[in-house]
Amino acid sequence: MTNAYDLAFERSINDPEGYWGEAAEDIVWIKRWDKVLDGSNLPFYRWFVGGVLNTCYNAVDHHVATGRGDQPAIIYDSPVTNTIKTYTYSQLQQETASFAGVLKAQGVEKGDRVIIYMPMIPEAAIAMLACARIGAVHSVVFGGFAANELATRINDAKPKVMVSASCGIEVQRVIPYKPLLDGAIEMAKSKPQKCIILQRPMLKSELTPGRDLDWQEAMASAKPADCVPVAATDPLYILYTSGTTGEPKGVVRDNGGHAVALKWSMKTVYNVDAGEVYWAASDVGWVVGHSYIVYAPLLKGCTTILFEGKPVGTPDAGVFWRVISQHRVSTMFTAPTAFRAIKREDPKGELIKKYDLSKFRALFLAGERLDPDTLKWARGHLGVPVIDHWWQTETGWAICANCLGLHDFDIKEGSPTKPAPGWNLKVLDPESKQPVKAGDIGALVVKLPLPPGALPTLWNNDKRFVESYLEEFEGYYKTADAGFIDSDGYAFVMSRTDDIINVAGHRLSTGAMEEILSDHPDVAECAVLGVEDSLKGQVPVGFVVLKAGVKRPETEIVAEVVKMVRDRIGPVASFKKATVVKRLPKTRSGKILRGTIQKIADNKAFKTPATIDDPAILGEIEAALNTIGLAGSRPK
Ligand code: COA
Ligand code: AMP
Repeated sequence: MTNAYDLAFERSINDPEGYWGEAAEDIVWIKRWDKVLDGSNLPFYRWFVGGVLNTCYNAVDHHVATGRGDQPAIIYDSPVTNTIKTYTYSQLQQETASFAGVLKAQGVEKGDRVIIYMPMIPEAAIAMLACARIGAVHSVVFGGFAANELATRINDAKPKVMVSASCGIEVQRVIPYKPLLDGAIEMAKSKPQKCIILQRPMLKSELTPGRDLDWQEAMASAKPADCVPVAATDPLYILYTSGTTGEPKGVVRDNGGHAVALKWSMKTVYNVDAGEVYWAASDVGWVVGHSYIVYAPLLKGCTTILFEGKPVGTPDAGVFWRVISQHRVSTMFTAPTAFRAIKREDPKGELIKKYDLSKFRALFLAGERLDPDTLKWARGHLGVPVIDHWWQTETGWAICANCLGLHDFDIKEGSPTKPAPGWNLKVLDPESKQPVKAGDIGALVVKLPLPPGALPTLWNNDKRFVESYLEEFEGYYKTADAGFIDSDGYAFVMSRTDDIINVAGHRLSTGAMEEILSDHPDVAECAVLGVEDSLKGQVPVGFVVLKAGVKRPETEIVAEVVKMVRDRIGPVASFKKATVVKRLPKTRSGKILRGTIQKIADNKAFKTPATIDDPAILGEIEAALNTIGLAGSRPK
């Protein structure tokens, strides 16, 4: 049976130039492309080579020019500050042009980098769009990262200017941003010339004379700047994401392919039209925030919600329903963990009944595996399709989804349905590199070329791009997720094949945490693993082996390593549990048996590996886990 999905998918794979060339007609180009897809420098591919456009023009000015000037572009809804503020497309154009003028006045030019370290306030989106307007490359850093992580990104991106705010608000707590910013600049080898700081009334910060500018003052005297032409292949942004070491990867997004794919995805994947209200409850610091709070809904001419709050506690577990009803949201996107938090506080969904959700059509979830309980709870209480879709920072948009704009498939629990157009998803055996049978687990890989909007490379590091993603399976992009495709063509994403874990939908590297633990003077050896957690999906747990002769109390050392991770990565790591063990279980060749430790921690049955050097260690690990409230009920 053929449906619109089958037709679109097949064409996107067999005639990518025709398929995406047609999608690109929806974008305003200053100059049309010479070639839709350029594969002349393999393994690198470039989309819309020769094309010239401006992403900010397409996301903002174009809508003003075509009659949407009075339509709300952004609704900032902030339960933590009791604020609701709407920016129409015309207002967003003015603000963006003014801030672009501020950046220009500070010497920011096309190709220069600007780091944005801000909480969930409209100025974060305005700063992003302002960069796009003048062809500067933004790099947004999530507010929950510590100064050290920010410093790493400063060193790699070498920004001319940084944009920040005086504080963020975490439920009831005011988090001062300025000390983190100052600390990061102090640590960084590459120093930005200027910092532009938005002073929030809850906590003003001391500005550094000669370096810092006050956002409001700078805006008051700004000369608005126009959109500049940029090449389709020029970088729009860099977004750092966890790699397998402490050095994050700078995922690059281009202008042309990104604009084409994201605008197209609003209808094809989410079935949302211009003029409708779309809400991604995430953070601008993550890829979901880049793609679906800022760029895609604005490119499409939708109203996007920028929500500064949490699913619970701001003020209660009904806040999502309040926002959906008050702003007439048609489609929402968040991470399953947000729904687990709501379900925990309001298991019977009583608060949902208080609100009129008649405009609400669909809920999309991503960022981590969607557990069947959460899926059933959301579907049962909301009465709308609940759609699991799978993607990554690198891909920029969904690899697999039930593309509602094409065909509404029956959902299978545990599956993000089928590959979206453009994603030639395969499952290969990691050893033989050959395709596996339907239903067999293997490495999830995508046959090149990747569709528009996916990363063309890593910032200043083509070599790492090739090594990380393209080398292991020649001709394919390695997602580093393992899974299978069943006989009906549904994909199932089971686990990462590297050391990345997903904590409350936030992507973190256990390898990076191990690097920190190893720096503790008393630690001889360590391992960090992602252990199952009923709220956050996974949380990291550390195992440390102390150096011979260390006599200090173990609790002190544990507290110190916990603090080190919080100080160096940030609170977002949620690294709260660690335990001291005498030794780590290893194979005879010295490889730590992470899978086995994980099963013990997750209370799962396991077979003692034949290669283990000393099976007695497993009992010691279990006892150590018991002391921190884990591994209590494993089937023996
Ligand atoms: N700035 C500063 N600190 C931040 C922060 C930010 N932007 N975001 C999170 N933190 C802090 C939190 O305050 C918390 O600190 P604590 O250890 O002192 O309590 C810590 O980082 C961990 O945050 P988080 O993992 O988010 O846990 P939480 O208990 O605060 O909230 C949820 C749990 C489920 C409510 C929350 O994770 C959530 O809303 N998730 C939605 C999913 C999401 O947005 N995913 C993004 C990809 S779609
Ligand atoms: P991030 O780059 O932060 O978006 O994280 C990407 C990783 O999150 C993926 O490689 C997966 O491991 C995981 N992930 C994202 N969405 C899903 C999903 N729908 N199902 C299972 N895992 C997911």
